[in-house]
Amino acid sequence: MNNAWVLNRRPIGYPKESDFKWIESPLPELDEGEILIEAHYLSLDPYMRGRMNDSKSYAPSIKLGGVITGEVVGKVIKSKSKLFNEGDYATAHIGWQKYGKIDAISARKIDSELAPISTSLGILGMPGLTAYFGFLDVCSPKPGETVVVSASSGAVGAIVGQIAKLMGCKVIGIAGSDIKTDYCLDELGFDFVINYKSDNILSKISEYAPYGVDIYFDNVGGEISDNVISNLSVGARIAVCGQISLYNLEENENGPRIGSSLLINQASMTGFLVFQFKSRYHEGLTKLSQWLIEGKIKYKEDIVSGIENAPSTFIGMMKGKNFGKLLIKIV
Ligand SMILES: NC(=O)c1ccc[n+]([C@@H]2O[C@H](COP(=O)([O-])OP(=O)(O)OC[C@H]3O[C@@H](n4cnc5c(N)ncnc54)[C@H](OP(=O)(O)O)[C@@H]3O)[C@@H](O)[C@H]2O)c1
Repeated sequence: MNNAWVLNRRPIGYPKESDFKWIESPLPELDEGEILIEAHYLSLDPYMRGRMNDSKSYAPSIKLGGVITGEVVGKVIKSKSKLFNEGDYATAHIGWQKYGKIDAISARKIDSELAPISTSLGILGMPGLTAYFGFLDVCSPKPGETVVVSASSGAVGAIVGQIAKLMGCKVIGIAGSDIKTDYCLDELGFDFVINYKSDNILSKISEYAPYGVDIYFDNVGGEISDNVISNLSVGARIAVCGQISLYNLEENENGPRIGSSLLINQASMTGFLVFQFKSRYHEGLTKLSQWLIEGKIKYKEDIVSGIENAPSTFIGMMKGKNFGKLLIKIV
């Protein structure tokens, strides 16, 4: 038998456990070209919150009663495709469930010898690629530039900050606890880190970036970003990667009021989605794997056991409880 988490109700504000429902169903039969995956790790990511709303976005909403969207890594236990043998490891978007069938073309084969398979959902997966392309392509960094990254201890932010250091930039992180800020400073080698819950962001940014911020990699939006954007240098670039501080608002806020700063500094602000770099994923994964093997970048995983804990763990992420790439261990 299979088990899955489905959408019971569309959340209003922060999701509640009652917005999710645990169901049981028989294992699916395979059609030609499909594979059946036994999920070993499920990735929990902020974008899932948007899919629970019934509003226009870059991807369709989850239907009521539908399995919650998500990517897993696991073992192929049945194959009706020449692309996969039973026993191969793969990542696939089967959602929050123990087993799922999928067209083999849309699964990615994983080399389980290269690194622990869990990394294919983090540093060597979507978050790593987001950091790689979002920072290098969207921000075009130059050595000596000052970079600010928000949610800087998280799956994407921690990699952005480390790539920025590899590119010879000065890095200022922003995170929500002293344990997270210490980690960015001591383990990841950032130059400065601001605790946005206890520090005055505006004065810390002007202290740490006296000539202004050349690059802002924005993972959070809202007030944190307003404060960073009012300290830009001339020709600054802003990559809008995520806006997690806004995902659980019950009503949209006005603002932010950043137009003047963009104008005065002739700065550019670019929203991006990792999928737009799909044709270059191989390049990104090759480079990230190389840096990982050479010990030039580190990763941190926050692994919670048991798929039954997926809703509470996901809700925790929306309140900053995760510390590193958040994964559910299923097998
Ligand atoms: N554009 C793309 O293609 C793309 C791809 C992947 C991810 N993203 C976006 O990138 C961002 C980071 O994703 P991730 O996977 O790396 O997640 P993550 O940083 O590992 O986890 C989310 C973190 O966001 C912070 N946070 C939560 N609520 C917040 C709030 N109200 N204000 C400020 N910070 C808050 C928390 O850290 P603190 O304790 O430090 O607050 C939390 O740990 C998200 O916005 C996500 O949507 C975009």
